[in-house]
Amino acid sequence: MIIEPVIQGVIARSAHPYGCRQAVREQIEYVRSAPPIQAGPKRVLILGASSGFGLASRIALTFGGAEADTVGVSFERGPSEKGVGSAGWYNNIFFRQEAEQAGRVATNIIGDAFSPEVRDQVIKAIRTDLGGQVDLVVYSLATGVRPDPTTGELWRSVIKTVGEPLTGQTVNLETGQLDTVTVDAATPAEIEATVKVMGGDDWAAWIDTLLQAGVLAPGCRTVAYSYIGPAITYPIYHQGTLGRAKVHLHATAADINRRLNAIGGGADVAVCKALVTKASVFIPALGPYILALFKVMKESGTHEGCIEQMQRLFQSRLYGQQHIGRDEQGLIRMDDWEMAEDVQLAVTELIAMITPENFQSVSDYAGYREDFLKLNGFGLQDVDYHQEIDFQELKVLEP
Ligand code: NAD
Ligand code: NA
Repeated sequence: MIIEPVIQGVIARSAHPYGCRQAVREQIEYVRSAPPIQAGPKRVLILGASSGFGLASRIALTFGGAEADTVGVSFERGPSEKGVGSAGWYNNIFFRQEAEQAGRVATNIIGDAFSPEVRDQVIKAIRTDLGGQVDLVVYSLATGVRPDPTTGELWRSVIKTVGEPLTGQTVNLETGQLDTVTVDAATPAEIEATVKVMGGDDWAAWIDTLLQAGVLAPGCRTVAYSYIGPAITYPIYHQGTLGRAKVHLHATAADINRRLNAIGGGADVAVCKALVTKASVFIPALGPYILALFKVMKESGTHEGCIEQMQRLFQSRLYGQQHIGRDEQGLIRMDDWEMAEDVQLAVTELIAMITPENFQSVSDYAGYREDFLKLNGFGLQDVDYHQEIDFQELKVLEP
């Protein structure tokens, strides 16, 4: 079988297993050559470990100087009659293979991170595979649904505005066009549901569960990821439903911080750069901003991907520093280069020029599309995409 990219709107319907392996290897190579993380954590739990910032965190912590052993939790699909399986499924497998070759422990737990069963599995894995405790918990889940832990009913997050509807443009990766979309204003119930799914509730519940089980080591830290962005994107992000959830996440960090202070640790939110991930391509009307941002940051030499962001976070902020640089709200700003005044000025100018007719040539559409394909294992160098893949060979790979 030959696996080709299949894109539906902004969703990849196929993934190339050996392309995913190559993407993991490239990230490993990057962190091995980057300034190393000093005095880093040795045992780490990553919730949302299979893609985006969570996978990059795992790679940075294992191969970027800390030499961490990890337990990673994710929700992914293996090969079946429905298809080869998801990119994250293969990222988990090939990350583990690479980590084990380097003498590290890498346990993959596949399941719903909101469920009590997965919480139990994680506690067991920390006891059996990581010697009983972890020094860091990375919270990097991105999802649209969460069951109410008391009733089991599903909360569904929405990506909408708060107040007025908004018309903007979205990158359609299937057609290669900039589609005009209108984003509706959320109802109060939708805002609340989004906060339940993407706010800090579940992060706090995880930390409580782990504390009670005694699997957090003295000095244990936790970090979750957020986005704020510039004022021009506030209507769709920061002041929209997702922004409401992030404000809740930031407030929750203060609560968790107090609880972890009791064991000599603490909690942080790292505000990251806007990047192409499986989750972020869903955000409507953010298209022109990201396309312009990539163009400007690449020209200024400050562009980063998930792996560069995460290596810099652990190396220059969270570990080996006298003081973790935080802003007046207590947030770690990994979006510092994105938010630089000259970058934002140039981005605003470029956005004003972008039209559905010219966006492919004036913005970084090519880079955006390339990143999206890479997330799914396509377009990597040193992968032979004409080579037949044996489905049986994929089926025997274990997470
Ligand atoms: P992603 O889609 O690449 O990763 C999400 C991870 O969560 C995957 O590993 C997935 O398997 C896992 N997951 C989802 N639902 C799950 C469930 N029910 N049980 C277990 N695992 C589950 O997303 P990402 O962009 O890396 O997002 C991670 C965090 O980073 C989010 O909080 C997001 O808001 C934040 N962030 C993203 C950006 C960006 O531009 N992408 C910028 C700043 C902050
Ligand atoms: Na992630």
